[in-house]
Amino acid sequence: MFESLPPREEDSILRLMKLFADDPRVGKIDLGVGVYHDAQGRTPIFAAVKEAESLLVRTQESKGYTGLTGAPEFHAAMAGLVLGTTEQPIAACATPGGTGAVRQALELIKLAAGPARRVWLPNPSWINHASIIDTLGIPRATYRYFDAATGGIDRAGLRADLAEARPGDVVLLHGCCHNPTGADLTPQDWADLTALLAERQLTPLIDLAYQGFGNGLEADAAGLRAMVAALPEALVTVSGSKNFGLYRERVGCVLAPCKNTAHLATTQAALAWLNRQAYAFPPDHGARVVTTILTTPELRASWEAELDGMRLRIAANRTALAGELRRLTGSDRFAALQDQKGMFSCLGLSTDQVTKLREDHGVYMVEDSRINLAGLTDATIPVAAEAIAAEL
Ligand SMILES: Cc1ncc(COP(=O)(O)O)c(C=O)c1O
Repeated sequence: MFESLPPREEDSILRLMKLFADDPRVGKIDLGVGVYHDAQGRTPIFAAVKEAESLLVRTQESKGYTGLTGAPEFHAAMAGLVLGTTEQPIAACATPGGTGAVRQALELIKLAAGPARRVWLPNPSWINHASIIDTLGIPRATYRYFDAATGGIDRAGLRADLAEARPGDVVLLHGCCHNPTGADLTPQDWADLTALLAERQLTPLIDLAYQGFGNGLEADAAGLRAMVAALPEALVTVSGSKNFGLYRERVGCVLAPCKNTAHLATTQAALAWLNRQAYAFPPDHGARVVTTILTTPELRASWEAELDGMRLRIAANRTALAGELRRLTGSDRFAALQDQKGMFSCLGLSTDQVTKLREDHGVYMVEDSRINLAGLTDATIPVAAEAIAAEL
């Protein structure tokens, strides 16, 4: 049987990680992998996570199964964090990480889909979006999103493409800190898109993997909150990997604000059934750590302060790299780096330039020239900027 398995190419980012690990050069710089690094190059454990874990170790009395969609306290804590205070009925489901949330939300869409329902993806998007949609056999369409010339949003392209969407289609949006471009929707964009979705009867699927990394916890959720409040229903997929630093614990959830309590019951039952088919009970440890942090004032304050420090470090790296590139190139070509949000930006370099940066300068980035701004330090910013400028 195994001989008939179709060959699969290794994930390009994992391949890049391997190349980086095998590179003997002392000054090599990793801007490829999508995890937060501090100024020492570490991916730290939040102090609040350590505290919450030790509290759990001391007080937890059972590891018996939770519900099929996870613990209700986790749902409530995540709904509060992401959606704020709301009267809307919300179906919720814990998942293994944000990827699990995206998968289960798309499974739900498939379950609810007539054959014609399409999912619209921004161009570009996180590469797993398209591959999960294709794996599930859901029809997929693309709308213009990123304007490489300005480093911002291609508003005319976006409107023109979504004008082709049919009632019942789903539009995937990045809640904040767009991966891979860092080009985010403004509050006005969210309002305009809300009107467009309402008019054309489209459902948003909002993927939120970096809340707190852009403009702050509240600001990063403001656009999606306004959209969700104005539309009859929505799907929000949440990852706790980055903003709680719980990458390997697999913390995520689907939040589904519904039109009424009848829809709530059906949606909640469908999410439970989908979890049952895939892995039955979702992972609990990370979800419980997150719940403990969000519901314990001292831990929450500590977490928010540490997260804010990360956000400010990334923003400072953005300003410094943009400044250095302006100085070296004498142009504003990279000015948008400063306005973009979150860990990622695309430099707009060719595959050849990306290869030369890796091979000749030891500066590693993803093939589409996505860089992780958290991979830079005060010491490496001038080095990386010199290398980039040398390859233009
Ligand atoms: C846009 C987006 N969605 C979802 C995820 C999933 O994150 P995880 O499965 O690690 O929680 C990521 C991670 O890179 C992402 O960038």
